[in-house]
Amino acid sequence: MKIDLKSKQPRRRIFSGIQPTGNLHIGNYLGAIKNWTKLQEEDDCIYSIVDLHAMTVPSNVLEIKHSTLEVTAAVIASGIDQKKSILFNQSSVPQHSELAWIFNCISKIGWLNRMTQFKEKAGKKRDNATVGLFSYPVLMAADILLYRATHVPVGEDQKQHLELTRDIAQTFNTMFHNQIDKKFFSLPEPIILGPAKRIMSLRDGMKKMSKSDISDASRINLMDEKDVISSKVKKAKTDPYPIPDNINDLEGRHEAINLINIYASFSNKNVEDILIEFSGKGFSYLKNNLSDLIINEISPLTREMRHLMNNKDEIIKILIDGSNKAQEIADVVLKDIKKIIGLNF
Ligand code: TRP
Repeated sequence: MKIDLKSKQPRRRIFSGIQPTGNLHIGNYLGAIKNWTKLQEEDDCIYSIVDLHAMTVPSNVLEIKHSTLEVTAAVIASGIDQKKSILFNQSSVPQHSELAWIFNCISKIGWLNRMTQFKEKAGKKRDNATVGLFSYPVLMAADILLYRATHVPVGEDQKQHLELTRDIAQTFNTMFHNQIDKKFFSLPEPIILGPAKRIMSLRDGMKKMSKSDISDASRINLMDEKDVISSKVKKAKTDPYPIPDNINDLEGRHEAINLINIYASFSNKNVEDILIEFSGKGFSYLKNNLSDLIINEISPLTREMRHLMNNKDEIIKILIDGSNKAQEIADVVLKDIKKIIGLNF
């Protein structure tokens, strides 16, 4: 006899997560948060500050509380509205860890060995990386499938993890096909939005913009003052050639492409139109415009972040409310999963 389940497969449900690792920069903002606010207008969205993910790197742990509040403040300041979206910190919904364990038991070491992000992060000292860092994509799969999400906005660097999520969902569906009528998990699709797929360092167009880059000039932090933003944009590396009128002529000009992508993201225009607008001009001209665009968008956000960081209780209240709502969904789905496996009677 097939099992009777309580959870419903939603029509279109978005799940995404951002790690609380302090010093947020415009790469995090354009690559994730800005898209989140757009999606909440149409879809059923669940967003998580993934503190358990941040813990996979031990040096993050000491600052985790502060970083969680700061990243939540940034997300709220960017326009995530608790009436439209669910916003919570991952560790407050214990079902994530429980489902991650279940998924650990159906995932193959070979799958995880192929993850390029692990290879890059662990580097040559593989034995020194934490077990958490190794199995991190399994926790990410649990995050997504715990809400039976159908769509996941992610950056390019997370696409492989989403593939793994699909493999885990598929394995589960196949393994337990005798217990349920339909496939329990739909295979979640990536949503990769806008020109900001990968925002690169302002000092090196081949390196991702990163909070751990030793040069602060390589990134624009969300907490940077206006004059700091202008000066970083002014100093951003470019090349001596003018802006061309088509994308093909940008080939190999990594710093130029990066500045144009950043411009496109902040102006909400596409790259083609920007090239037509600026073609023949030098980068100093574009940079002046770009500084203004960034400052106009970021300054109100920075102000609101500062306000929230001075009123931490407001942030905490939002997280608690969000956690309660997330847990309501997670509890039903996890109970169904345990029933399907035979862990719950
Ligand atoms: N791994 C993602 C990152 O580092 C963060 C993340 C965790 C995530 N769980 C997720 C993103 C689930 C999307 C869906 O950027």
